[in-house]
Formats: sequence, structure tokens, C-alpha cells
Amino acid sequence: MSKIASVQDLEDHAKANLDKNALNYYSSGSQDMITLQDNVNAFDRYQIRPRVLRNVSNVDTKVSAFGLTFDYPIFIAASAMQKMAHPDGELASVRSANKHNVCYSLSTISTSSIEEVSEAAGQVTDNKKIWFQLYIYNDKHKTIDLIKRAERAGFKAIILTADTPYIGRRLPDIRDPFMIPSHLKLKNIQTEKIGEAETSTQSSENASWLARYFKENINPGLTWDDVTWIKSVTSLPVLVKGVLTAEDAKLCLQYGADGIIVSNHGGRQLDTAPATIDALPEVVRAVNGKIPVFLDGGVRRGTDAFKALALGATAVFMGRPNLWGLFYDGENGVDLMLDIVFEEFKLAMALSGCASVKDINESYIQDSRHIFSKL
Ligand SMILES: Cc1cc2nc3c(=O)[nH]c(=O)nc-3n(C[C@H](O)[C@H](O)[C@H](O)COP(=O)(O)O)c2cc1C
Repeated sequence: MSKIASVQDLEDHAKANLDKNALNYYSSGSQDMITLQDNVNAFDRYQIRPRVLRNVSNVDTKVSAFGLTFDYPIFIAASAMQKMAHPDGELASVRSANKHNVCYSLSTISTSSIEEVSEAAGQVTDNKKIWFQLYIYNDKHKTIDLIKRAERAGFKAIILTADTPYIGRRLPDIRDPFMIPSHLKLKNIQTEKIGEAETSTQSSENASWLARYFKENINPGLTWDDVTWIKSVTSLPVLVKGVLTAEDAKLCLQYGADGIIVSNHGGRQLDTAPATIDALPEVVRAVNGKIPVFLDGGVRRGTDAFKALALGATAVFMGRPNLWGLFYDGENGVDLMLDIVFEEFKLAMALSGCASVKDINESYIQDSRHIFSKL
């Protein structure tokens, strides 16, 4: 096999080799997957406007947020059930992120526990760049317990996912209902006893286990007051994930969110929602620098991250590339994936004439649709 040179190569490898149950779950989007594809394609509608003769002998890729410094503005997004990709699952991913000094965000519905992930992130609490993604359960005590466990384990932020009152309609999952493999458990929420009750839905009717799990456990009645509520039960910064409009960005400010992740859940929730790179500018404008804005969805190359930063993101997250790297070779595979994207990002900075991330701004980007409309 040829050497892996890009995230696309890792994705091709996974698509050719991963078992159907896991591949359908990881790769699918909702309905006709228009948003899923547009997340990726939209980056190509923007071009980088490079500047020359700017001394790029040293390129500094570091960024800061919430008092933490990261070596690159490219983080790992929360994605569920990573042990389907590799037996080390989330532990391999967090070890790799930790080694590269970037943020790893852990899903509520992970196959490694909060405590295991914290331990894998190393011994030194200050060095743990781990953020916890939260789904709010119908049972408020369960939700508070998750937050408290994350705090005790040294997680540095809570990411409240706001776009998933119900699971999106994912057609591959309807055609061939997804099953969590019987040897795996949702480690954060299953005690042995609850585990039996919650996994008992596995073998019943012919419908997605995950969609049923959400219907039975996750609260679809959330409102902006729940942001206030989460803020009242934790001292950690709270980010709202799943914002795509200026209106909601302003509500984030009004209700005291500490950060925003512009996201459409990797095209897995509302199909035909805008690509995240297209939604980013209106959110950035509405926030006007008051809190950091992050983006995920479709980031596959260093140039994609550069474009998001030029449009005002503090950093980006990648979801599926982490899973493809993990499947390729566990921790080494995630290392390979991050090394590729980081090298691409650093080179994009150098070839654009940016010696520091602080130099990247709107003057480095053009939207091809606006150029054509002026002709
Ligand atoms: C297999 C998979 C599982 C995911 N699980 C979660 C999750 O548990 N919680 C969450 O907030 N987002 C989840 N996401 C969404 C990601 O956090 C992120 O928004 C998305 O993957 C970004 O798009 P990308 O895959 O194109 O990078 C998941 C995404 C995928 C692909």
C-alpha cells in the first residue's frame, strides 16, 4: 500500500476496511447527506490570498483559549464510541492529542470513562487539555454527576451540545440498524445494573439502538435557561455546540456562554443546514470578539483550518479524521493524522506569509461566490 499522505487517504483506507456497522455509524450523515458533503465542499469555495516576502523562517502556530495554550489551533471533536474503530478507542485519541498539546473533547457516550480518559491524558492536571461534551439527561442528577466527575477528573471545559434533542434521521442506520457491539459499554453512564437495563433495548424492535437510547434518556426539552442552569452547577467554562446563526450567537452571549462551537454535528442532525464555514462569519460578527468562536465540520486539511481562522475562528475541531486515524493504527494512526494536518497548516501559514496565528485575518481569504457576483 502507498504511504498515507492525507486525511483523505486515511478515510479511503477506513472505507475499504472497516466493518459495515461501525462504518455506517461513523461515516453517515442525516437524510441525503447534503450538509455532510457541503461541510467539506464549502471550504473549496474560499481561496487563500497569500502575501509574499514576509520572513517566515519561524512560524508560530500556538493559540490560547480559556487560559490554556495549545500548539496548534486544530483540536479533536467529541465523537461517540471510539472503541469500534480500535480497541484503545478514546484512550489512544487522548494520548495522541496530549502528546501534540492540543485539546481532546470526550463524548458523553464514550466507550472509555471520564476517569480513564483523564488518566490517559497524563499525570499533571495543568497539562490535561481535555474538555467534556455534555448531553443533558432527563435525570438531572445523572447530568450533574457527569459534570462533577469531569471537574474532579481535571477536564477544563464543558461543551453543551445543543443540536441533538433527537437523533437525526440517518438512512444507513434505518436500513441496517446500528448496534453497539456487545463487548462495548457506554462507560460514563452504565453502572453494571443500569447497563443491563439500557442495553436491553439492543435486541428489541427493528429500529436504531441509538435513536431509541436518545428518545428514552436525553432531554429534548432544553431551553436557553439550561445554559444558565449548567453555568450555576459548574465553575468550568461552558461552550454551546451546534450554533449556526447570529440570533443564537447573541443568545449565547445573553445567557452567559463562555464559548461557541459553530457546528452542524458533522451533517448528522438537520440536513440542508448550512456548511459550518458559511455560517461562521455571521456568528463571528454577532459575537464581536466577546467570547471565542470555534468551528467543526468538514475540516480535512491544514488549509481548511487556515480559512476558518481567517474568518474569525479561534480554533477548529475534527471529528471523523480522528476515527479514520484511530482505525488505521490506534494511537500511531491518530499521531499520523495530526502530524499530516499540522504540517499542512504550518505550511499554509508560511506560504501565505503569516509568521504567527495572530497574523491570520479576513484579508487572507476570498469567497469565490462574491468574486463571481461582481463580474
Ligand atoms: C461518529 C460520530 C459520533 C459523534 N458523536 C458525537 C457526540 O457524542 N457528541 C457530540 O456533541 N457530537 C458528536 N459528533 C459530532 C462531532 O462532535 C463533530 O461535530 C463532527 O464530527 C464534525 O464534523 P467532521 O466529522 O466533518 O469533522 C459525532 C460525530 C461523528 C462522526
